[in-house]
Amino acid sequence: MRKPIIAGNWKMNKTPEEAAQLVRDLIPLVKDAKCDVVVCTPAVNFAAVKPVIEGTNIKLGAQNVHFKASGAYTGELSADMLKAAGCEYVIIGHSERRQYFGETDKTVNLRTVAAVKAGLKAIVCVGEMKDEREAGYTDMIVMYQTQMALHGLTAEELDNVVIAYEPVWAIGTGLTATDEQANETIGVIRNEEAAAKIRIQYGGSMKGSNVKGLMAQPEIDGGLIGGASLKAEDFAQVVNF
Ligand code: 13P
Repeated sequence: MRKPIIAGNWKMNKTPEEAAQLVRDLIPLVKDAKCDVVVCTPAVNFAAVKPVIEGTNIKLGAQNVHFKASGAYTGELSADMLKAAGCEYVIIGHSERRQYFGETDKTVNLRTVAAVKAGLKAIVCVGEMKDEREAGYTDMIVMYQTQMALHGLTAEELDNVVIAYEPVWAIGTGLTATDEQANETIGVIRNEEAAAKIRIQYGGSMKGSNVKGLMAQPEIDGGLIGGASLKAEDFAQVVNF
């Protein structure tokens, strides 16, 4: 019922030339994918990537968006700018932004509402830190983050939201939540939103070797892929799970 969605989060990697080459390599490898395929590239690469993926099944995404339409916000990009540059998706509230750039549950909410109201699809990230899991707070943290992030959106607007559950301790570490751990926490998030139809991805060291087990779990609708999205063959292995 829920179409799976695999998105690459390239983070701060690839120049325009490298980005165009990566999607050129990717196109034939993922053309028969049964899931939605998204590449979230740095904004400087939109102009190089967009014409290459035109007419293919690969969609363009950004990694952040500001909540105001325009104005004196040095370094920021508005939802309308992202749309005009060809983006369909935008990642919001990634743990690296929460950790290093002062992103809070409040700003995640403002960005999510602005993105969805402007017609973008938001990939909203939630997830617990290692000490929070060890202390038994995982469910509480993800429930709180989810509620805060989606506050003010209508049921209809939630159709344009994807949630990415990324346990912070599993990002870039090679550690993955077990299939069951990921499934269980995603189940908690789903109950929180009372949303059978919302798509919820897992993220955190997801790759070709573990994608099948994770995607076999009933609650997991896809993945948000960091390291394994930077090479066409690696990302294609995940997409073609
Ligand atoms: P890795 O796949 O490199 O662990 O990164 C996950 C992530 O943060 C995706 O947003």
